[in-house]
Amino acid sequence: MPPAVNGRQLFVTTALPYANGPFHIGHIMEYIQADIWVRFRRMQGDTVHFVCADDTHGAPIMLKADAEGVTPQALIARIAGTRAKHLDGFHIGFDHWHSTDSPENVELSQDIYRRLRDRVPSLITTRTVEQFFDPVKEMFLPDRYIKGECPKCGAKAQYGDACEVCGAVYAATDLIHPYSTISGATPVRKSSEHFFFRLSDPACVDFLREWTQTPGRLQPEVANKALEWLGQDVAAPASGDKGLADWDISRDAPYFGIPIPDAPGKFFYVWLDAPVGYLASLKAHLAKQGIHFATFLQRPDVEQFHFIGKDIVYFHTLFWPAMLRFAGAPYKVPDNVFVHGFITFSGEKMSKSRGTGVSPEVYLDLGLDPEWLRYYIAAKLNAKVEDLDFNPDDFLTRVNSDLIGKYVNIASRAASFITRQFDGKLSLRPGGTGHCKDREGSTAIAWAASGMIAKAYEAREYGKVLREVMRIADRVNERFDQAKPWELARDPAQRERLQDVCSDALNAFRALTYYLAPVLPHTAVRAAEMFGMPLPLQWADIETQVTHIKAYTHLMTRIEGQQIDALLEGPHAAAQTRAAPAVPEAGSAKTQGDKLAHAVAHAAGTAAKVPATESAAAGAAAEGSAPQITIDDFAKVELRIARIVAAEHVDGADKLLKLTLDIGEARHRTVFAGIKAAYKPETLVGRLTPMVANLAPRKMKFGLSEGMVLAASGDGPGIYLLAPDSGAQPGMRIK
Ligand code: 2FM
Ligand code: ZN
Repeated sequence: MPPAVNGRQLFVTTALPYANGPFHIGHIMEYIQADIWVRFRRMQGDTVHFVCADDTHGAPIMLKADAEGVTPQALIARIAGTRAKHLDGFHIGFDHWHSTDSPENVELSQDIYRRLRDRVPSLITTRTVEQFFDPVKEMFLPDRYIKGECPKCGAKAQYGDACEVCGAVYAATDLIHPYSTISGATPVRKSSEHFFFRLSDPACVDFLREWTQTPGRLQPEVANKALEWLGQDVAAPASGDKGLADWDISRDAPYFGIPIPDAPGKFFYVWLDAPVGYLASLKAHLAKQGIHFATFLQRPDVEQFHFIGKDIVYFHTLFWPAMLRFAGAPYKVPDNVFVHGFITFSGEKMSKSRGTGVSPEVYLDLGLDPEWLRYYIAAKLNAKVEDLDFNPDDFLTRVNSDLIGKYVNIASRAASFITRQFDGKLSLRPGGTGHCKDREGSTAIAWAASGMIAKAYEAREYGKVLREVMRIADRVNERFDQAKPWELARDPAQRERLQDVCSDALNAFRALTYYLAPVLPHTAVRAAEMFGMPLPLQWADIETQVTHIKAYTHLMTRIEGQQIDALLEGPHAAAQTRAAPAVPEAGSAKTQGDKLAHAVAHAAGTAAKVPATESAAAGAAAEGSAPQITIDDFAKVELRIARIVAAEHVDGADKLLKLTLDIGEARHRTVFAGIKAAYKPETLVGRLTPMVANLAPRKMKFGLSEGMVLAASGDGPGIYLLAPDSGAQPGMRIK
């Protein structure tokens, strides 16, 4: 069914990342949170415009570009070039990615400013401000670029706002022996005229009190914080200790930013034009679809939502709604701002310098399944402003035991009976156990949860969603076990019952696939293709029965402990995995898995036949018997059944064939195997054969080889690929 045309009209954003560095895990967490919500809303038939952009302006980017000897534009472009890998890699489906350094943003920021300025009474005012100025760089210095001795305890090299030694808070101009961290020069005091947004105006304060305190608008802890900032009194003072201070929105040249109209040499402070970037991105996105920006925003049914972190609540619940409200139509205030906490690592702050934490880049470079991380993050998210802890053991357990052990398990168990014994046909027998009208059936149990799960998604209670899905999966597995299908399969008289039991489990699995689709979009599509479910997946289609399934192909592999070890070892480990040496260093603990894999190759005999330079399968061409290993050693080798999807000659290689293998993952693997002497490529296509799935990828002259197929050979000529017994499926683990 196509998405309904009369659903809600939603404009959704995540915070704009600064354009001076690549994404960190905190960005990815926020994008995943928002992406899940957007995908859920789309499954409800809503139209969602989901956009983001690079936050490009301000002193840090200007100074970083300067230090690198490039223009800010060149720096921004370089960082922008890193975005797609992460967004695509983690299946984050923004409709548009823009930049605050864009014509749309200049136009909209200046337009909003003019409207605030030209109101009667005006909400823009000017005041003279005295600040530190770097006489060498000839620029005003933001506090973070000034250091000196603490005026209270005398500690050296303290920043311009607070002392890290005694905790004193002060103005930069109070520092003793101040110096500019940019040039080293002693800053001088200098005055200039600054522009202020009169947030203390009673009209602003009244509006913000009403907007922030409207029941159901902000999370309770966020609304309370806003009330604290606004001052508790009903009639907040226009200025003074309590209530809002006016907001300094200008910076003097040189500054990388948007010029303030009619004020030469003055630029908007980056935090003024950053949120306007949401609108700039929306405008550019709508233009691509031929939708008029102002007309769209003025539709009474358009809703505007921002996902942000807890560190930028002030900007989003005070400045931003006030700017929009007093700029007037077509601008509209946000309907809601959804705030999340930070992501910590085993209870501690993630720190790049200390090397703790999870790098999204390393995660992707290691080839880890992005949907594992999406699942884990979703399982730990709720609607509160709480920090989310990434714990490696918990990550492994939740993915392997819950996601794969419970959800995927239903399909992999039930589907094989249906494909093998019933030619893929499910039963639809009224009154049978497999019939979905059977209130006791697994399918009925799964269907009954659809309203509750939808409510939890809407409220961003993803942890609750996944707990419910796993509770259902547990029940479905229990019921399947109780029916003992393996016994039914041995008794021809129980054939119908076997089909009913499996059909019921598979229909329940089908419903669970809908429930998981916002979190696992790619896995859901692969399951949908297997089950013939209409795409795009729509909530309204949940209560339909499957009539026929295609042969089951593996939906997801398990995480292995060593993959987590590699992830936590950081970029170094990823680089090693990408370009591992052809022969592992003896005695290196890190290469233990490799050595074992090579031992398998050796035992199979193939390795000795093919020069190491030509074949991944030939990595360790050691002679003689392999040393004895324990069962734990063997368990480190991940052997899986692969289907050869394609086989071809390799230009310039005497002994190699290039194999494309399906082991039930989202993407196919490429393996170069030294079997050309024994096989014509076309005879291999469609065959099943075991492969070492966790062998570190090898960079070869002809491309990257991502594993190894197993073959037997002896002293004479002849290489013999291994083959599993019939019934084995791609992705099955060999143990
Ligand atoms: O805190 C930050 O990373 C800012 N770049 C967020 C900006 S959000 C919006 F206002 F643009
Ligand atoms: Zn001090």
